[in-house]
Amino acid sequence: MIKFTVEDQEGTRQELEAPSDMGLSLMEILKASEYPVLATCGGMALCATCHVEIVEGKAGLEKATDVELDQLENLPEYFPNSRLACQIRIGEQLEGAIVRLRGEDVV
Ligand code: FES
Repeated sequence: MIKFTVEDQEGTRQELEAPSDMGLSLMEILKASEYPVLATCGGMALCATCHVEIVEGKAGLEKATDVELDQLENLPEYFPNSRLACQIRIGEQLEGAIVRLRGEDVV
């Protein structure tokens, strides 16, 4: 299990635990934890509703693919540390990270 912190749109932080050996994506963990992530495309890097900002811990993550970057660049608001949560695998590299929710559907 790894632990990381999620910050919601109101700035409330909560620590989450997730299994690092099941090939789950960050988006799946956020949904399972009842965060309001629409994920309408089901994790295909097509909808960008799983937009998050990696506030801390970006260095250890795999780089975004061109498909992911294309989606991010089309967002109305996009930050240097923006990622699609569905493209981030839960693994040791996420231990201690801080993730801020940015999906448009989140109010
Ligand atoms: S779930 Fe659609 S882009 Fe991530």
